[in-house]
Amino acid sequence: MTKSSPLLTEGFVIIGHRGAAGRAPENTMSSFRHAWRSGVRAIELDVQNVEEELIVLHDDSLDRTTTGRGDISDFSLAELRSFDAGNSEPIPLLGEVLAAAPESTLVNIELKGRDTAALVAAEVTRWPQLVFMVSSFNLRELARFDDLQARSRQPTALAPLFHYWRMVLKRAERFRARGVSINIGNAIATERHVAQLTEAGWKVCVYTVNDAERAAQLRDWGVRAVFSDVPDALLHLET
Ligand code: G3P
Ligand code: MG
Repeated sequence: MTKSSPLLTEGFVIIGHRGAAGRAPENTMSSFRHAWRSGVRAIELDVQNVEEELIVLHDDSLDRTTTGRGDISDFSLAELRSFDAGNSEPIPLLGEVLAAAPESTLVNIELKGRDTAALVAAEVTRWPQLVFMVSSFNLRELARFDDLQARSRQPTALAPLFHYWRMVLKRAERFRARGVSINIGNAIATERHVAQLTEAGWKVCVYTVNDAERAAQLRDWGVRAVFSDVPDALLHLET
């Protein structure tokens, strides 16, 4: 992988979803390490802002993935870090994951929580050996990130995310100037939609794909990347 994002160039890429969420507790160091050990060169993770620090956690509640209970906004950073996120590991900080990532790893940072754009914009400048893509369902937060890096000589690739097909092209238009990809949910990743988006100039990524046949089909339709909980099982499909 070169320094430029593989999503800016040719080829089909497998992105480890929340690390390798099907192999180890999601968004933990074990999950990211599992992905890297098996040769996965691109990972996705979700970030939340707690006390102006970025933690890697998908939900705004602790219940599903940690030993804690309740909303993360009710806890201090130190308290949040005392809970077990799996394998007796704490919820990682974004900086910890980035420090451990092999050189040239593509890291897709998903702005999951509120007020994450500015912190992420500052963070990506600290790791020139990594390649970043920033995504979000929250298009306002993504636009904020886009504005913050407007004068950057090497703007980070953006990927607006969509669960539903309705208005995708119109809503994603705001990011066309800087965006390189658009991420559409499994249910709307039809051959026709992929073709429409590709013809309009978008590089299409699809989440979450754990089946090799489905991934191969999407690749053949022109999809540029899939997010997978079992990235090691799909790696042979990369081109
Ligand atoms: O970026 C793809 C995927 O991570 C978006 O959905 O809910 O897994 O964060 P979610
Ligand atoms: Mg995500």
